[in-house]
Amino acid sequence: MKNILVTGGAGYIGSHTTVELLESGYNVICVDNFSNSSEKVFDVINDLTGKQCTWYNVDVCNIEELNKIVAAHDVNCAVHFAGYKAVGESVEFPLMYYQNNINSTLSLCEVCLKNNVRSIIFSSSATVYGPPQYLPLDEKHSLSATNPYGNCKLFIEQILKDVNVAHPALNIALLRYFNPVGAHGSYRLGERPKGIPNNLMPYICQTALGVRQELRIFGNDYDTIDGTGVRDFIHVVDLAKGHVAAIKKMEADPGCFVYNLGTGNGTSVLELVNTFMEVNGVDVPYVIASRRVGDIAACWANPEAAKEHLGWEAQYTIEDMVRDSWEAQKALGVCT
Ligand code: UFG
Repeated sequence: MKNILVTGGAGYIGSHTTVELLESGYNVICVDNFSNSSEKVFDVINDLTGKQCTWYNVDVCNIEELNKIVAAHDVNCAVHFAGYKAVGESVEFPLMYYQNNINSTLSLCEVCLKNNVRSIIFSSSATVYGPPQYLPLDEKHSLSATNPYGNCKLFIEQILKDVNVAHPALNIALLRYFNPVGAHGSYRLGERPKGIPNNLMPYICQTALGVRQELRIFGNDYDTIDGTGVRDFIHVVDLAKGHVAAIKKMEADPGCFVYNLGTGNGTSVLELVNTFMEVNGVDVPYVIASRRVGDIAACWANPEAAKEHLGWEAQYTIEDMVRDSWEAQKALGVCT
């Protein structure tokens, strides 16, 4: 498996994964419509790796164009990141989310089957577990979703499982990410949300930078260590390496697999903010606000399956994560 198609390769997780793939000796062909990213990312990727990533400004929903690309590059494996990803926006514009996220997956599946692509790796999320019935979350936990973004992840997982039943030669890996943060150690790649960030780490970084006045901590009355929400923050480079491990696994052992990609450690919002201030020596003014609708109190992974079957384990600490997020934020600036 040498030629890897990466959809959404210019995005936050896609770009870091592309770097890891190139550094592991794979040829990478990226497809992105740049709806939430920039083509300049590929110059950085090529510069960092000293390799050439081939890329196309094509929408994955465009089945004819996608088919030409996959056929021309003799793709062996597709890593599917492309998709809308804002929970709040998905509640406001559900049809846009279903239309884009589901159709792009159907288009990718059809093209993969037509061209005998051997594997698809899908960028799923811990959101598919819904409110935790127990912690840590393992892959056997029941599945549910509470918003269109989460429904898309759930439906796509099911679509891919069904495709594997009908076409067992097409291997599937569903990777359920916990909360990705951090940035490449060069600080030339990172997370650059457009406008006001929804997620915690970009909001912390922009507040430290002075672009946002203060961070609102959504709730301090949860049943957690300090009352604030608890999440499993995972460094994006660890996450990226998880994809390389999944590709290697499927080369050796075909099938349909589901793995959590998390560290197994829960960190509270307040712990993260305090660590950020300590490690980086900057102030992050914050206020306690009311709970955010739809949030759960705590969520962290049981990462044992990925450790056992993929030989993959997260390496970066929370200190690494806050340092790298901040350094990349300073270096890359804010995307308005
Ligand atoms: N939070 C704040 N203030 C903010 C932003 C977030 O206090 O300004 C808190 C949230 O209330 C929550 C924690 O920080 O307790 C993490 O919130 P994020 O929005 O960063 O992340 P979520 O855990 O809500 O969601 C993330 C991804 C989803 C994914 C989910 C999987 O954004 O795409 O993890 O669990 F589905």
